[in-house]
Amino acid sequence: MFKKFLLLLCLLTLPLTHGLFAQSQYPIIPLPTKLTPKEGQFQFTKNTRLILPLADKGLMPVVDFFAAQLRTASGLPLEYFSANSTAIPKGTHVFFIEAPAGKVGPEGYRLTIEPDRIGIVAATPKGYFYGVQTLLQLLPAEAFSPQLVKKADGAAPRWTAPCVQIEDEPRFGYRGLHLDVGRHFFPVPFIKKYIDLIALHKLNTFHWHLTEDQGWRIEIKKYPKLTEIGSKRKETIIGHASRNNKAYTGKYDGQEYGGFYTQDEIKDVVRYAQSRFVTIIPEIELPGHALGALAAYPELGCNPDKIYQVATTWGVFEDVFCPREVTFNFLEDVLTEVMELFPSEYIHIGGDECPKKQWQESRFCQELMKKQGLKDEHELQSYFIQRIEKFINAKGRKLIGWDEILEGGLSPNATVMSWRGIEGGIAAARQNHDAVMTPGSHVYLDHYQTDPQNEPLAIGGYTPLAKIYGYEPIPASLKPAEAKHILGTQANVWTEYIKSSDHVEYMVFPRACALAEVAWSLKECCTYADFVARLNTHFKRLDYLKVKYAKHTDAPLKL
Ligand code: ACM
Repeated sequence: MFKKFLLLLCLLTLPLTHGLFAQSQYPIIPLPTKLTPKEGQFQFTKNTRLILPLADKGLMPVVDFFAAQLRTASGLPLEYFSANSTAIPKGTHVFFIEAPAGKVGPEGYRLTIEPDRIGIVAATPKGYFYGVQTLLQLLPAEAFSPQLVKKADGAAPRWTAPCVQIEDEPRFGYRGLHLDVGRHFFPVPFIKKYIDLIALHKLNTFHWHLTEDQGWRIEIKKYPKLTEIGSKRKETIIGHASRNNKAYTGKYDGQEYGGFYTQDEIKDVVRYAQSRFVTIIPEIELPGHALGALAAYPELGCNPDKIYQVATTWGVFEDVFCPREVTFNFLEDVLTEVMELFPSEYIHIGGDECPKKQWQESRFCQELMKKQGLKDEHELQSYFIQRIEKFINAKGRKLIGWDEILEGGLSPNATVMSWRGIEGGIAAARQNHDAVMTPGSHVYLDHYQTDPQNEPLAIGGYTPLAKIYGYEPIPASLKPAEAKHILGTQANVWTEYIKSSDHVEYMVFPRACALAEVAWSLKECCTYADFVARLNTHFKRLDYLKVKYAKHTDAPLKL
């Protein structure tokens, strides 16, 4: 009895915005910045209309997105009316309202739910989009159904949302999810589903890792052999690639593997991502991870007479681009086509894991280093990246690369993606460069999420849900002025051991839900237990969306 009394006391004294009450009534992921619970609820009925502001300013596709989803699940008509219409029938209304200048940030929104009206206030279509994503999460999970929902007795569910006042905007401007399509290829319908899931979680960046040692996956018109030859490998290793792993077999499957995206497909995906307010950052790996390209065009390597083959196993390979003029011309041509396809401000040029052995052995490279006054091969890599950065900057774009681009001197305007830990991000910020934090220790979703004994084979590592949830992107050692350079965070999904899209979903969810909250919500917003309580409702949404998320993790998903 006393225990029950204590529990009641705790529940009553918890701040409502962050306590269990709020979590169960308002199971939103990521949790909004400020949420004030209110009494009562709004019910969508056949008499609920959507009222649009006088100036459209790109809002229409967002209203269509919301209405289409809810119409599909509910069968309600959700008619539109303009705010100045004198013919708005009686009933309940959802008002889309333009924010007064300067009151709401570019990704922010305000959502007020009262018993007879809902107001969504934003300054941009993106802000409205996040507002309707939140509204959908306040409806029963059935709102995410891809077909009309009927209860067992044939009756329709009550489409209610609890009354609330929400003011929301993201903590970080960069909120990313990555996918490696080089090691395994994933078709366009899945890429679109992945983008939908990125948007559902209010992430705003899809980092598309398009070229690898094991396959070049983007059509380049000027260099057709990149896809004719570079997108195919003879076969694929079975089991783990490391001899030290007990799943090592040393055997290969004997089956050709390949796939690539045509430029038309890429344009279609870019348009789709724009409709979901997701920026796609393409990655073209250089100077390492280049075997797909070298197999097609051996003259780009330091040993042009060598027969290069698209890699059939996983790891880091010594065959890298040679810093000759022919290579720079090739890369500039490739990047020109890439920049025509992708409107993103950032172009990712890789820069990671580039062994220097062939440059050390190359007379050409050694002479180039002497001529340019470069003291070692790290400076030669820096020379390579700086030339590429100049080219990208001249086209009005920015270069981003993995943290090895710090070695030998950072290019003047480069942004660093810190993956080998947080040190790269710290070093970049201290040099007044921007950084995105993606440390392998916390946000690599190719790592095991629970006891490897009962899991599908993974590369290694151990990153359970709670660990990602506890990740803090701003390194404690940075001063506030330096910390401003940390643009945000991203989870990475390398696919050596992930062959199918179902397996991608299993590795990514629910861990990406935790990342979304790290990237969007306030640092002190909630406990892991709060998150898990909301996640249990979120799982029902993911079920409707047919996401094959991992249902077990090391954390019990019950409170
Ligand atoms: C990386 O994981 N090689 C960036």
